[in-house]
Amino acid sequence: MTELTVPALSLVVLVGISGSGKSTFAQRNFAPSQVLSSDAFRAMVADDENDQSASAAAFDALHYVAGRRLAGGRLTVIDATNVQDHARAGLVALARAHDVLPVAIVLDLPEEECWARTERRPDRSFGRGVLGRQSRDLRRSIKRLSREGFRTVHVLHGLEEIEAATIRPQR
Ligand code: GTP
Ligand code: MG
Repeated sequence: MTELTVPALSLVVLVGISGSGKSTFAQRNFAPSQVLSSDAFRAMVADDENDQSASAAAFDALHYVAGRRLAGGRLTVIDATNVQDHARAGLVALARAHDVLPVAIVLDLPEEECWARTERRPDRSFGRGVLGRQSRDLRRSIKRLSREGFRTVHVLHGLEEIEAATIRPQR
């Protein structure tokens, strides 16, 4: 078991390609109400968690709710790929605006493993190329996280590290 220290009031940003296990990790380590998932917000605004054309509206709503939670002093977890710089920049800014520490938890699972999982999932239908792009973005992202303003960066490599990780809130 590996304990990942996370400030009790923080904005936890999960980072990982599709199929890396972000939603599973969030479900295992946090209360459902603490987790804001981009899929859930796409479903809320467009009735379809896979509707990528709804992303702008979904993230707008997600940021709004995250801001209201942080204003209330509530730990909040962002369950989205967050492999793109601009997505993370918006979240770091949101955390700063509420005087809350942004924390990144990276789930770094081999692309092949994620693809094998994706192919088994009835709820995902994107092509292999999408994952390749996300992987390239992820590699670049990992090097940048500290410089981007994340005060704590935890990188979990591979299934064993991901499955062994637990969260320890720090007061
Ligand atoms: P997106 O929402 O598409 O970005 O994917 P995600 O990162 O949220 O992945 P998700 O948690 O949905 O996991 C995808 C699949 O991988 C799940 O349906 C599980 O079958 C499997 N999986 C996820 N996490 C674990 C894990 O820790 N252990 C094992 N054995 N399987 C896992
Ligand atoms: Mg997910």
